Amino acid sequence: MPLVTSKEMFEKAYHGGYAIGAFNVNNMEIIQGITEAAADLKAPLILQVSKGARAYANRTYLMKLVEAAVIETGLPICLHLDHGDSYELCKDCIDDGFTSVMIDASSKPFAENIALTRQVVKYAHDHGVVVEAELGTLAGIEDDVKVKAEDSSYTRPEEVEEFVKSTGCDSLAIAIGTSHGAYKFKPGSKPQLRFDVLEEVEKKLPGFPIVLHGSSSVPQDFVAKINQYGGNMPGAIGVPEDQLRKAASMAVCKINIDSDLRLAMTASIREHFALHPADFDPRQYLKPAREAIKQMVAHKLVDVLGCDGKAF
Ligand code: G3H
Ligand code: 13P
Ligand code: ZN
Repeated sequence: MPLVTSKEMFEKAYHGGYAIGAFNVNNMEIIQGITEAAADLKAPLILQVSKGARAYANRTYLMKLVEAAVIETGLPICLHLDHGDSYELCKDCIDDGFTSVMIDASSKPFAENIALTRQVVKYAHDHGVVVEAELGTLAGIEDDVKVKAEDSSYTRPEEVEEFVKSTGCDSLAIAIGTSHGAYKFKPGSKPQLRFDVLEEVEKKLPGFPIVLHGSSSVPQDFVAKINQYGGNMPGAIGVPEDQLRKAASMAVCKINIDSDLRLAMTASIREHFALHPADFDPRQYLKPAREAIKQMVAHKLVDVLGCDGKAF
C-alpha cells in the first residue's frame, strides 16, 4: 500500500469516536518504534516531520525510512509536514511525496493566515495532498519559535466557519489549552482543557476534523526516571490522558504527540548508561530506547486515541 492521505482516516475517526495518532519522527529508531507498535495493534498512523527534523535527518533519508516502514508494516500511513511555516516549504514537501502538509500561519493576522493557507491549499489539492491549518496560538516551543504562555490565545469559535470556507483546508488545529513541550502547566495547578471552546467549534463545523497539537501527557514515571539518572526536569507537566480521550471521542481526529516519545527515549538511554557505564555500542542503548518508544506508542494508541484495530 502506498502512503495515503488522512482523508479517509479522519472520516472514520470522526464517526467512530476515536483519533489518529500523529507522532513526530527524526530517525530510524523512532520510526521503527512507532510503526512496530501500530503494526502490532493494526492502527492507522500519521508520521509527521517538522522543518527541524528535515534539517536534522535530511529529506531523502526520512522519506526513504518512512517508505521502508510502509513496506515492512503494510499499514495505511500518512506522511505529514508538521508546522510548515511557508508556501515554499509546503510545496517542497508535496513535491517530495508527502501526502499531507500543515501550513501554520496561526501567528499571523486572520486575513494573512487565510491568504497563505489558501495558497497552500491550491497547490496541495492540485497534487492530491491534504492541508491542515491552524487558528489560535499555542504556548511552548516548536522548532526555533517560542511562544510565551501570556502570548498564547484560545481559538475563537466565531472565526472558524469563515476560515475553513475561505481557505478550503481539510482539517483545523485549534488552541484549547494544550501547548508544546514538557512544561505545559504550572506545577500544582489543575490542567483543564477548554471543552466549551471545542464544543462551540464542533457546532460551527459539523463533521469537520479538528486537530490538537501539544498533546503529550508527560508521564511522571518517565520524568522521575530521567531525574533519577542525572537529569533535571522539575515541574514538567502535561495534558491529562483522560481529557485527550474525551477530545478523541468528540470532533478531534488527530492528536499530535512528540515530547512523550522524547521522554521515553531519553529515560531509557539515561537508565542504560547509569546501569552500563562502560557501554559504547549504540545498538546496546538504542535498542531499548526503540522498545520504550514502541511501548509508549502502544499505550497511546489503545488508551488515549482508541484507534487500535482501525487500520483496515
Ligand atoms: O511541535 C513541534 C514538534 O514537537 C516538533 O518539534 O520542531 O523540535 O522537531 P521540533
Ligand atoms: P508535544 O510537545 O506535546 O508532544 O506536541 C507535539 C506537537 O504538537 C507536534 O506538532
Ligand atoms: Zn505542534
